[in-house]
Amino acid sequence: MTNNFNPEASDIQAIFNRIASKYDDLNDRLSFGQHAIWKMMAVKWSDPKSGAIALDLCCGSGDLTLMLAQKVGLQGQVTGLDFACAQLQIAQTRQENKLPKHAISWLEGDALNLPFSDNFFDCATMGYGLRNVTDISRCLQEVRRVLKPGAKIAILDFHRPQSDLINMFQQWYLQNIVVPTAQDFSMEEEYAYLIPSLAKFPNGSEQVNLAYRARFSEAVHYPLLGGMMGVLVLKK
Ligand SMILES: C[S@@+](CC[C@H](N)C(=O)[O-])C[C@H]1O[C@@H](n2cnc3c(N)ncnc32)[C@H](O)[C@@H]1O
Repeated sequence: MTNNFNPEASDIQAIFNRIASKYDDLNDRLSFGQHAIWKMMAVKWSDPKSGAIALDLCCGSGDLTLMLAQKVGLQGQVTGLDFACAQLQIAQTRQENKLPKHAISWLEGDALNLPFSDNFFDCATMGYGLRNVTDISRCLQEVRRVLKPGAKIAILDFHRPQSDLINMFQQWYLQNIVVPTAQDFSMEEEYAYLIPSLAKFPNGSEQVNLAYRARFSEAVHYPLLGGMMGVLVLKK
């Protein structure tokens, strides 16, 4: 496992631009369609109310953004922010096909330097983004800044299970299923990064500590799928 995995933001941005056209198909195949369920749980935990102003950080092709939009309804507003413009183009096309009447803005921007004023959003989500940002503490501080007092963000990502057995299964799955499947899509190199990024990612209790250091008032990490995934729910 490489401990000196330290990609530049521009490398991460290039990877997600490159894989944009195949990203949704590959996610469906690798999770047997289950990622939609975990994403729905994250959206629910962000507590989106009808008419709310919501943010989906690191929105990629827009799965969580579209789910949030359905929850806040036609009176609400959602912003999907990502720094990979190829992902945003796909997200926009998906919205035009699925939810053409909902108010969704697709914004190219940096999760470490959010282009919003303080106390702006009623709720937020982030799916598989926190593991990819180059400065997790800074990202949490930025999210907290733009949330209204009392508002929540639910952050879904991979997680390293505590059980040795499940941990072995996860490593086997990543090495023997994820990377070869990505190879079928000619994206082996792009998906190989998942293993070191997970090795470096703080575990649930470390994420909770980082959140309190970023001055969230409540922080709970919920393990999913035997701890192979997790949702960090934070309240400002
Ligand atoms: C694994 S994808 C997740 C996409 C989507 N949320 C989902 O769950 O399918 C991670 C996304 O984070 C974005 N990302 C990583 N670092 C970022 C940053 N600093 N600012 C904005 N987007 C970032 C990438 O461009 C990529 O689209």
